[in-house]
Amino acid sequence: MKRVYNFSPGPATLPLEVLEQVKDELLDYQNTGMSIIEMSHRGSVFSKIHEESMELLRKIAKIPENFDILYMTGGASTQFALVPLNLTGNRFNQKSGKAGYINTGTWSKKAIQEAKILNVNYEIIASSEDKNFSYIPKNYKIPSGLDYLHITSNNTIFGTQYKEFPKPQDTKLIIDMSSDFISKPIDWTHIGLVYAGLQKNAGPSGMTVVIIDKEYYKREYEFLPTMFRYSTFGESKSLYNTPPTFQIYIFNLILKWIEKKGGLEEIHKINQRKAQYIYDAIDQSNGFYIGHAEKEDRSLMNITFRLKNESLQDEFLNKAKENDLVNLKGHRSVGGIRASVYNAMPEEGCKVLAEFMIDFYKKHG
Ligand SMILES: Cc1ncc(COP(=O)(O)O)c(C=O)c1O
Repeated sequence: MKRVYNFSPGPATLPLEVLEQVKDELLDYQNTGMSIIEMSHRGSVFSKIHEESMELLRKIAKIPENFDILYMTGGASTQFALVPLNLTGNRFNQKSGKAGYINTGTWSKKAIQEAKILNVNYEIIASSEDKNFSYIPKNYKIPSGLDYLHITSNNTIFGTQYKEFPKPQDTKLIIDMSSDFISKPIDWTHIGLVYAGLQKNAGPSGMTVVIIDKEYYKREYEFLPTMFRYSTFGESKSLYNTPPTFQIYIFNLILKWIEKKGGLEEIHKINQRKAQYIYDAIDQSNGFYIGHAEKEDRSLMNITFRLKNESLQDEFLNKAKENDLVNLKGHRSVGGIRASVYNAMPEEGCKVLAEFMIDFYKKHG
């Protein structure tokens, strides 16, 4: 068997121990004589996994009791629409609400686009588009009376991340946490809703975790289809229809893996160390590597940089691949290199990449 260091932005590398357990249990789940993906989502065996995963997530992420945990599908991209559809006054109901958005990159823009399609009254409160999204806006005024303030906690493409969330006084935050979900502890004080696809830090693609303040169910209006309502999922423990059972099973194993590692405090420390190896290699290269993000806003999850001499980029990527360091090409809107180092990227993988970068710089710098 060959395993490479896979720096893919998502779907992304998963813990080897988890994959091995999935392999071992795939044909006969705990002497049931069938696979976990062949059994009823309402049977006792799957129910235990389902409920346990929600309890584990609540415990690990210290989610307060006023929040429900929902398992939905359609990716974070569906949430871009469900959030304004459920939480604002829009053209279907006559409430005249207003949504606030902070624009920190491609994914924020896509979220804003859905508010626009739904003809929602919205305002862009701050943006970092002026510098190709290389920083997180600060020191802006949050107007009063917003239905919510939407932010993207980690900007997967540009490699920036909030170190501290905004603290709105008379509204709550809606956070697209797709690319730093369960990578560090969270203060829930100013949060109303969080959503994230599993496929970066928490499992395979195909499931979105939504963590929602139950107060928001009161905002639903009569024309909303059943499957577009958050309360449908909350009130049925996400068993109104058939949930993505394979994803839930793997999510459960990943949560146990996080717990074994010492929980989110410990995972965060490891993630800080991991990113630091690579940022040090950038900072100590005398300008051979140029980081995209402002230092204070650097992401611990997606490390974006380019080579000063861009003609060396293909050679960098090819040589990296020869060393089993793969999926390092940056997104076309930033160019350069992107190393995605989510929870499951081993510390060793980051060290090996940093050493490779230093070697490459010494040869070509
Ligand atoms: C921050 C962020 N938001 C949203 C998305 C879109 O997620 P999905 O493909 O699950 O709809 C991504 C995907 O990479 C992302 O990184």
